[in-house]
Amino acid sequence: MDSADIGTITVRGGVTLRAGPAREPCFRIVTDQADMARFPEGSPEHRREMLHGDVNEEVQSLEIAAQSLADFPDAPWDIRFHLARQCWDEVRHARAFLRRLIELGGRKGEFPIINQEWGVVCMFDSLVGRLAVQNRLFEGGSLDVFKEGVAAWTAWGDHVTAEIMDAVVADEVQHVRFANDWFERLRKEEPRALLKAIAAMDALRVRAAALTPPEMKMAHEIPINVEDRRDAGFAIE
Ligand SMILES: [Fe+2]
Ligand SMILES: [Fe+2]
Repeated sequence: MDSADIGTITVRGGVTLRAGPAREPCFRIVTDQADMARFPEGSPEHRREMLHGDVNEEVQSLEIAAQSLADFPDAPWDIRFHLARQCWDEVRHARAFLRRLIELGGRKGEFPIINQEWGVVCMFDSLVGRLAVQNRLFEGGSLDVFKEGVAAWTAWGDHVTAEIMDAVVADEVQHVRFANDWFERLRKEEPRALLKAIAAMDALRVRAAALTPPEMKMAHEIPINVEDRRDAGFAIE
C-alpha cells in the first residue's frame, strides 16, 4: 500500500485519520464524539440511536476488512479467506440491526454518525497493525459491549433485539479468534512481524486519548465477557 495515495482528515486533538468512507446523503457525518446524539438512557430515541450506531459500526467493520483485502493482496491465503468471510458476516449484522431499527420506527440518517474506527484503523500500513487494533482490540471489546447490550435490551423488555445481539456476538468471536490465532502463529514463526502490531497499539493509545472528549473520559467500565473472550483465543485466568 502506498500511504501517499490515501486521503486524510485532521480532527480533534490534531489527530490525522484516513478520510471517511462514502455514505449516502441522508447521513450527517460528524468527526467528534461530542457531536453525537445523547438521549436519556433507555428512552425510545436512545434505543434507536444505539441501533443506528450499531448499523454504522458493522458497516465500518465490513469496510475495514474489505479495504485490508484490497490493500494486502500478498497476505496469507487463510487470513484473506477469514477477512472475506468477515465481510459477509458484517453485512448480515448491519442488515439485521437496520431491519430492527426500521421495525422500531427509526430510519437511516435519523442520528449523526461517526467513522472514527475506519479513520484510525485504515491509517496503519500493515495487516498485523490493522488486525491488532480492529479485530483484537475493537472487536474484542465489542464482545464485552454486546454482552452488556443483550442484558440491557432484555431489561428494557425487547427480547427481539437482545436475540439479534446475541447472534452477532457468536460471529464476532470468530473475527477476534482468527486474528489471535494468526498472532500466536507469528509469535512462534516470525516474531519480528509482530513489531508492527505493537507499534500500532502504541499509536492507538496516543490517538484514542486525543480523540476522546474530556466529558467522555469518565464513561463507566464495561465488565469483561470472560467466556466469549476465552473462545476468541484470549488467555484469561
Ligand atoms: Fe459485526
Ligand atoms: Fe466483526
